[in-house]
Amino acid sequence: MFSMSSKVELSEVMKSVVVHPTSPISTTITTIAVPTSLEANDVLIKIHAAASNPKDWIHLVSRGFSLNSGDDLAGVVAALGSDVTSLQIGVRVAAFHPMGQPYGAYAEYATAPEHTIFKIPESMTFEEASTIPLVSLTAAITLFRRQGFAAPWKPEAADKNDKPLLVYAATSALGTFTIRLAKLAGIGPIIAIGGGSSAYLSTLLDMQDVLLDYRSGMDKVKQDVRQVVEDRKLSLTHAVDAFSENGSWVDVSQMMDGGILSVFSGANKYDDAGSPGNVQVLYTYVGTGHDGAYKPGMPKQPSAEDAQEDVDFAVGFFKWLEMVLRQGKFSGHPFEVIPGGLDGVAEGLNRLRDGQARGRKLVYQIPA
Ligand SMILES: NC(=O)c1ccc[n+]([C@@H]2O[C@H](COP(=O)([O-])OP(=O)(O)OC[C@H]3O[C@@H](n4cnc5c(N)ncnc54)[C@H](OP(=O)(O)O)[C@@H]3O)[C@@H](O)[C@H]2O)c1
Repeated sequence: MFSMSSKVELSEVMKSVVVHPTSPISTTITTIAVPTSLEANDVLIKIHAAASNPKDWIHLVSRGFSLNSGDDLAGVVAALGSDVTSLQIGVRVAAFHPMGQPYGAYAEYATAPEHTIFKIPESMTFEEASTIPLVSLTAAITLFRRQGFAAPWKPEAADKNDKPLLVYAATSALGTFTIRLAKLAGIGPIIAIGGGSSAYLSTLLDMQDVLLDYRSGMDKVKQDVRQVVEDRKLSLTHAVDAFSENGSWVDVSQMMDGGILSVFSGANKYDDAGSPGNVQVLYTYVGTGHDGAYKPGMPKQPSAEDAQEDVDFAVGFFKWLEMVLRQGKFSGHPFEVIPGGLDGVAEGLNRLRDGQARGRKLVYQIPA
């Protein structure tokens, strides 16, 4: 079943980008049918802006297949599955499309389940909104599921969350969204380790927080973190390694007083020598927000029940996010529009691959 209205004109066919795992990354623009039937909980969105994530090229290269790998988008609701009740046609929304599934974000229309879609305020551009869905949910699952902090909409957040949090690669989209959510949840002080893009990061921090620079070298960063911890008599038992490359998690684990260290790359085993035994490494996989399950072989998974509960958590998180966006307490990541609409996706993904998208999201405008 499928309901639609004349408010949003539906095309029969659309442009959709297939991303190929070549070097450099290449794309083909195909013309495919706009879906004419939807799963009961799905929503069809006419896309105005899409944003890239590093995994949009990483997953394709590591697995050797081609796909419309975009999952972050913003646009207007164009059609509703039969069970969708919280959205209406014509409403402005942003969505996290399920990774690896058809009808992704590098296209003129995408589908997403109702529970990973949120309404965006009139004052927010589609471009800004497209920077939010996937990474904000990753940060939220990390803090309020894997790390065990109380979600900001829970009454106990005010008392329970008053603990230090170390964020490595704090200038990344994941690092900054983690810090923004931590602030709204009363977590702190924040020990943020950023790099050349720290100008924006520093606007998110306050007097009680500490900003260090990874470019001074890991030994110096470790020494500085331990100095802060000792001077302030902190117990540092929560850390997020938003880089999760080149063994960064080993160094970060050595900055901690035991506790939980969150990591994000599925390409590592995280069993390296050098990590203190009292630090538990836990991998966040944002896909659990859609299907509640880790894929076989993924590292450092939580219990199956824990992962399953991420779906309900995502429902609550995006409802809460809608509210804080409306109240002006949350906003998007700094972004740069890549010219050319869908034709620009290959350039954007190659810039991400080559480390030329620092401190900002790359966004594509999809003309109506
Ligand atoms: N598992 C999941 O579900 C999941 C979900 C989302 C993201 N991720 C992963 O999380 C990572 C971050 O994603 P993102 O979208 O936030 O990336 P991003 O915004 O593109 O991150 C880029 C930033 O990383 C920082 N950086 C580069 N080299 C660094 C180093 N050696 N040490 C510390 N920071 C460094 C840079 O900071 P400066 O510019 O300041 O130098 C740069 O601005 C990626 O690997 C991504 O695939 C995983």
